[in-house]
Amino acid sequence: MTTQVGELLTTDSVLRIRGGVLLRGEVGVNGAKNSALAIMAGALLCSQECRIRNVPNLVDVHRMGQVLTALGVKVRYDRGALELDVTHLHRSLAPYEIVSQLRASFFVIGPLLARLGVARVPMPGGCAIGARPVELHVRGLQALGAVVQIEHGMVHAYARKLKGANIYLDYPSVGATETLMMAATLAEGETVIENAAQEPEVVDLANFCRSMGAKIRGAGTKTITVVGVPRLHTTEYSIIPDRIEAGTFMVAAAITRSDVLITPVIPEHLTPVIAKLNEIGFQATVEAPNGVRVQPGAGVYQGTDIETLPFPGFPTDMQAQFMALLTLSEGSSVVTETVFENRLRHVAELQRLGANIRVKGNHAVIQGVPFLSGAPVTATDLRASAALVLAGLAAQGETVISGLHHLDRGYERLEEKLRSLGADLVRVAA
Ligand code: UD1
Repeated sequence: MTTQVGELLTTDSVLRIRGGVLLRGEVGVNGAKNSALAIMAGALLCSQECRIRNVPNLVDVHRMGQVLTALGVKVRYDRGALELDVTHLHRSLAPYEIVSQLRASFFVIGPLLARLGVARVPMPGGCAIGARPVELHVRGLQALGAVVQIEHGMVHAYARKLKGANIYLDYPSVGATETLMMAATLAEGETVIENAAQEPEVVDLANFCRSMGAKIRGAGTKTITVVGVPRLHTTEYSIIPDRIEAGTFMVAAAITRSDVLITPVIPEHLTPVIAKLNEIGFQATVEAPNGVRVQPGAGVYQGTDIETLPFPGFPTDMQAQFMALLTLSEGSSVVTETVFENRLRHVAELQRLGANIRVKGNHAVIQGVPFLSGAPVTATDLRASAALVLAGLAAQGETVISGLHHLDRGYERLEEKLRSLGADLVRVAA
């Protein structure tokens, strides 16, 4: 890849935030990270060149680019446009060093198998937020006729020709839905995926595959039907705006009691986030055609309960950011994390800033406090790092955040964007 901006300044640097500054203005949202990663895997289904636009410049995207390069794909990234020449896809082994750092790179298993009849992908392993197994991907591929063996930490999958099948997912896993939908595009006959994930990124991937000639119906509902075709052709495709980045800016506006317009967004992707902000007491409104504005409310900001769920429920990827906001809302709130088993590690860091939170199992009980006070804190995962930035924007005094490699996986130019809204923050060597 031509640029490696995402990797700049990541290690050994910290973010210094002086909190309590009002934000104002309009902020831009990049293309969705999770769409980009799935679509990059999906490009392996094409036997020519693909051009993908609105691709965010992130460490995770560059890592995925490295996986594709290792498989024989020519990858060029230039200011948001990704050109992938898949003509010479010939290697079936995804490199351990990268798959172990980027779980989404496991998703290449479906397209690799469909294209080459063989795929060898290391188990992605656990990560900071949970064990994150892949048995749903594996069982689905077996249903499509693949022989799958797991040996020495490597998933080996073979199939001379995948065959359409009816697959019921025990849980609407985003990754498993994507893996199986991709594999089915080149299978013989019809595949029906029941209890499929309905996330917008699944729909984006389906639309990308359809732009290459795949026959997919029902993406965005619980039942996805794919009719296999012999091959897919070249395409140029633009990725949807990142609803989690947008949601993070929405909370930045709320937690600083500011007026900010966030654009572009697809408002329907933000329904639970808009609803919760309004419930707490902010004014979150859609500004047609593709903006959302967050403004201070007229009364008090009241705590609320949140339970993370698969889409269209409240996104787990917004849980940490909302927890930061709820620490400064009146009364008590209960946040229940149902998607990942270990996604409350930011609690300890928020407590350093003066938050009053108790954890019991997968519940966090938050008692609102009048203010947070700046302190040194460490990011524990991607969205936790965003939550700490948000808390730092609101806290009195200076917050110094380390562990920024997490932040750089998922936010492009976050400091620059927040500074353009008036925030006082700077990244410096530790
Ligand atoms: C994707 C997103 C991630 C988001 C998550 C849930 C990408 C690159 N990442 O992750 O940001 O937080 O969706 O919205 O798109 N599970 C199993 N067995 C499996 C697969 C999953 O038990 O074979 C479990 C997981 O451990 C987890 C739950 O299902 O508890 C949801 O995971 P899943 O939807 O698969 O998340 P990802 O696709 O990994």
